[in-house]
Amino acid sequence: MFSFSKLSLPIIQAPMAGGINNPRLASEVSNAGGVGSFGFAYSTPQKISEDLAATRALTKSPINANFFVFSPVDLPAQVIQEQALAALQNLPITGEYALSIPQAPFYPDLEEQLKPVWEHCPDILTFHFGIPSQNIMARAQSLGIAVGITATSLNEAQAIEKAGADFIVAQGIEAGGHRGIFNPFEADEKLTAVELTKQLVRERSIPVVAAGAIMDGTDIANALRAGAVAAQLGTAFLCCEESGASPAHKVYLLKHRNNGSVFTTGFSGRPARGINNEFIRLMENKMVLPFPIQNMLTASLRQLGGKTNNGEYQSLWAGQDYSRTRKLNAKNLMLALKDELTIALG
Ligand SMILES: Cc1cc2nc3c(=O)[nH]c(=O)nc-3n(C[C@H](O)[C@H](O)[C@H](O)COP(=O)(O)O)c2cc1C
Repeated sequence: MFSFSKLSLPIIQAPMAGGINNPRLASEVSNAGGVGSFGFAYSTPQKISEDLAATRALTKSPINANFFVFSPVDLPAQVIQEQALAALQNLPITGEYALSIPQAPFYPDLEEQLKPVWEHCPDILTFHFGIPSQNIMARAQSLGIAVGITATSLNEAQAIEKAGADFIVAQGIEAGGHRGIFNPFEADEKLTAVELTKQLVRERSIPVVAAGAIMDGTDIANALRAGAVAAQLGTAFLCCEESGASPAHKVYLLKHRNNGSVFTTGFSGRPARGINNEFIRLMENKMVLPFPIQNMLTASLRQLGGKTNNGEYQSLWAGQDYSRTRKLNAKNLMLALKDELTIALG
């Protein structure tokens, strides 16, 4: 079974759904002593199988497969659908990119997605937005796969430990991408990664991984001092040469440093932190469909944004400290993080 003590560098390259992760990025991170991850939330079983096989051919070191725990969802009443469409009516999209109300199924079947996981056995399996079934947890652990689950509060961490997970990913409010909160309609304590990590290390007994605005070795040292066994970094890896982030995403991270990052539900229906842009401003106080139906509704807008290299209409997920993102390849980023961590730990 995977253990954090076996890592030569306590660094997890965060799972990032949406084409950012790939075998090159994951294997470079794993071969440098950390953990390379895949955000497979929307991937087909075939793609998952291909990516895991390709990564295994490049590294024997630990890799992580990550999935969303989607909650059952139905289309809301017609009047809500019309308001959600009306919110998008002034966007410059027509023809093949025209927006329409999505139809079920709204998300992939997790059991089907996990079949290639049981076949290829990554070292780690992590989940976002909730706790998977006991069957899934037991099957993973019987195959020697360690299970980790995102928590944004002590309550969620308690439920995660009770369910038998092997570790908790403590996601701070600074973190880029979707907030892993189980129920986004409940009050959010909005703790920082270090505050949450300290609380979970004090109150829980399974290992805690810290995530949120960890951009260099000094930040990793602070997470370790708070009691984390490792740090999970997403944004820091987005501008790596191996990262599949879109060209506009990389340009905004490096050159639009003063835009700031904000939470929006406009793209997907769930709160996610990204670089502030025209679409996010347009969607302020507008009606959105429930997650992930809104994500399907805005898919063609994001595709058009990608095709025309227009960052104002893409979801540029990034953490609060994205202005510190570096343009290095994954191997050199890992080397820099290692040196900085060594210095910071004295
Ligand atoms: C572009 C992007 C996509 C993300 N996608 C996922 C995902 O698919 N699954 C997941 O568990 N976390 C996802 N996250 C959140 C990360 O796991 C992590 O919490 C976050 O990156 C930490 O904050 P940082 O970006 O400031 O390092 C994503 C983050 C980013 C930036």
